[in-house]
Amino acid sequence: MNVKKGAKVIILAIESSCDDTSAAIIIDGEIKSNRIANQSVHEQYGGVVPELASRAHMANIVPVVKSALEDASVHQKDLTAIGFTRGPGLLGSLIVGVSFAKSLALSLGIPLIEVHHMNAHVLAHFAEDPKPQFPFLCLTVSGGHTQIVQVDDFLDMAILGQTIDDAAGEAFDKTGKMLGLNYPAGPIIDKYAQDGDAIYTFTEPKVDGLNFSFSGLKTSILHFLQKEMKKDDQFITNNINNICASVQARIVSILLNKLTLAAKKTGITQLAIAGGVSANSSLRNGLINLCNENGWRHFIPAFQYCTDNAAMIAVSAYQKYLAGQFVGQEVTPKARMEMKSI
Ligand code: KG4
Ligand code: ZN
Repeated sequence: MNVKKGAKVIILAIESSCDDTSAAIIIDGEIKSNRIANQSVHEQYGGVVPELASRAHMANIVPVVKSALEDASVHQKDLTAIGFTRGPGLLGSLIVGVSFAKSLALSLGIPLIEVHHMNAHVLAHFAEDPKPQFPFLCLTVSGGHTQIVQVDDFLDMAILGQTIDDAAGEAFDKTGKMLGLNYPAGPIIDKYAQDGDAIYTFTEPKVDGLNFSFSGLKTSILHFLQKEMKKDDQFITNNINNICASVQARIVSILLNKLTLAAKKTGITQLAIAGGVSANSSLRNGLINLCNENGWRHFIPAFQYCTDNAAMIAVSAYQKYLAGQFVGQEVTPKARMEMKSI
């Protein structure tokens, strides 16, 4: 293996944990390219189909990596190291990115750096300015996770609270399924909600401390829709905007109430959001208002760094490169992975 000394540190990062294939180039800590190939094949199934995701990653990975190198005007022989998402995620999806990273690193004789997907979502805040200072709190909300993370340094973070059942993204997506919307429903609900009012109320689940729960909310939405549809079978079609606004308002209030509690408990007043659900307009506006009312600072990533992307993997990989944290060719993907384990 060949760690180049003195030269520029050029890292190729690869993300393939779910249904987006992404590659990015980071040079001396600065993101130079970030290519993402989405997989529309899952829309009709109401969720990600693991086998189809894996096959689509195989089709996408070579062109995506090639475009990321071209965008950054980097030749693969100039690479210093390769960072990749090791987990958590869908095993069949992870295998494609991990195998690709291992093969390319082996052929180029350069080191490999494993990255934790959730750790990387938090570090998306360092893909561009303004960057938070340590310590800060990050509400990481995606299709598979909902966490409040205290971030003391790039590679030093701890989960203060997390969901005990469904993730916030799942709450959006499962509600969407009940409403007959395509997957992923989060962005569609967000769009409809912009023309609606939150006139229907759903009770806030009672969960101790900084943990979250969304499964009760899902059931109460289902019962509400069943009751209204019995009275009027056009209820969903005729009230889609208000239903979406109401569901979204409740999910956002659950998230921001817990984040507020975390800020008060820890005294940390730099608040960030990350993950796919941080693209939600109501969550973004809600965080801005919350911080303005309390004199706190907010950090909201650009849209391209909210949902899965390799730029965030690149930020983490660069920090791990500086810390000398490499892995060997024996590394395998991990579908379940503790945040602290790497
Ligand atoms: O982080 P991400 O791209 O993938 C995972 O690691 O899960 O997050 C995907 C999730 C999906 O549940 C999707 O519905 C949700 O993020 N999402 C949104 C919005 N955009 C994406 N949810 C609410 N509003 C949005 N605008
Ligand atoms: Zn993610």
